[in-house]
This record gives sequence, C-alpha cells and structure tokens, in this order.
Amino acid sequence: MSRRDERARAIGWSAAAHGAAALTALAVFAALASAARAADAPAPPAYPQGFASFQGNCAVCHGPAGAGVPALAPPLLSYPARYAGSTEGRRQLALTVLYGMIGDITVDDKHYNFQMPEFSRLDDAQLAATLNFIVFDLGHAPADVKPVSEAEIAAERARAMDGAAVREHRKSVAPTVSP
Ligand code: HEC
Repeated sequence: MSRRDERARAIGWSAAAHGAAALTALAVFAALASAARAADAPAPPAYPQGFASFQGNCAVCHGPAGAGVPALAPPLLSYPARYAGSTEGRRQLALTVLYGMIGDITVDDKHYNFQMPEFSRLDDAQLAATLNFIVFDLGHAPADVKPVSEAEIAAERARAMDGAAVREHRKSVAPTVSP
C-alpha cells in the first residue's frame, strides 16, 4: 500500500470514528464496509472487533488512527508492529495493555512522560483483537508475523507488575526490535 493510500485509509478511519460513540460496533463496521465500496474509501479493518475496542478505549489518547497526541500519548504506528516480530516484543505489547505504562519514553525523537492506564478489565480475546488492530491495521506488520493470541495475553496476567516495571521492560526491548 502506498503512503498516500495509507493516509487516505487513516483519514477515512478518523472520519468513520468520528461519532462512533453514538453507534454500536456493528454499525461502525457496516458504515465502514459500505464506505469501502465507494472509490477512495478505506478498506474495512482486518480486525473489526479490535477497531471497535480501540475507538472505545484507546483513541481518546492515541487518536482514532493511532497517530498519537503531542506531549500526551505516543503514536502507535511504529513500535507495536515491530514488537510483534519478537517474543519479548510481543510480551511488551501484552504487558502494556495489562499493566499500563508510566515514565519517560522516546518515540520518533519525541518524548512522552504521562501515564497509560491499565486495561486488565478487558478479557484476553478483546485485548488480543485490540493489539492485532494496532499491529496489522495501523502498523502494517509483515504477513509472516503471527496474530497475537488470547493465550499470549493470558500468560502475562496476574503478574506483580505495574506501569513503571512495564516501562523498564520497554527499555530493554525497544532497542532490540527491527528498525
Ligand atoms: C489516558 C491516555 C491513554 C489511553 C486511554 C491509552 N493509552 Fe496507550 N499510552 C498512553 C501513554 C501516555 C503512553 C506512554 C507511557 C509513558 O510515557 O510511559 C502509552 C503507551 C502505549 C503503548 C506503548 C508504545 C510504545 O512505543 O512502547 C501502547 C502499545 C499503547 N499505549 C496502547 C494502548 C492501547 C491498546 C490502548 C487502549 C486499550 C491505550 N493505549 C489507551 C496513553 C494512553
């Protein structure tokens, strides 16, 4: 997909997400699918449940297309897809949503130092779908990357971890993932 197509897709998602609060997830998906039939419209997401969960739980900070918000929350268009290619990176994704993250991080030469809340109240299937939306629909991870499974989320639950520990884990993982 060209950069231009990606941008059109992201803008389409922003537009589709606008007002998503008033619609059910199904209606959002139906609207997306019908929008996709029109020329120049974005393709529907590969992970529609992840899309709906992302818009409901994450977009308020990361933006509807995951572009991030300066000084508030980092973009999710680079690291998550790269994390998904390694075992420790995949653990990092699960840990971030289960325990949140706090402390200074740098993404694309910009600093972020705010608190990502934890989402352990969401079940394994919902967290896996949300991460797969980020990794594949937003991040365009290569086709040989395996989708995040419910079992991978389950394996990281019930640890004695908090957002500061997740940020420490990120420090060791981020330098090891592919550029
Ligand atoms: C209240 C705002 C907020 C919400 C809501 C939020 N995040 Fe975050 N997120 C952040 C912040 C802030 C950081 C960076 C934390 C830091 O500075 O240590 C972050 C970091 C991340 C990272 C790590 C990125 C990296 O480069 O390592 C991922 C992945 C992520 N969020 C995914 C999600 C997902 C998925 C959801 C929804 C289930 C979500 N976030 C909801 C604020 C938020």
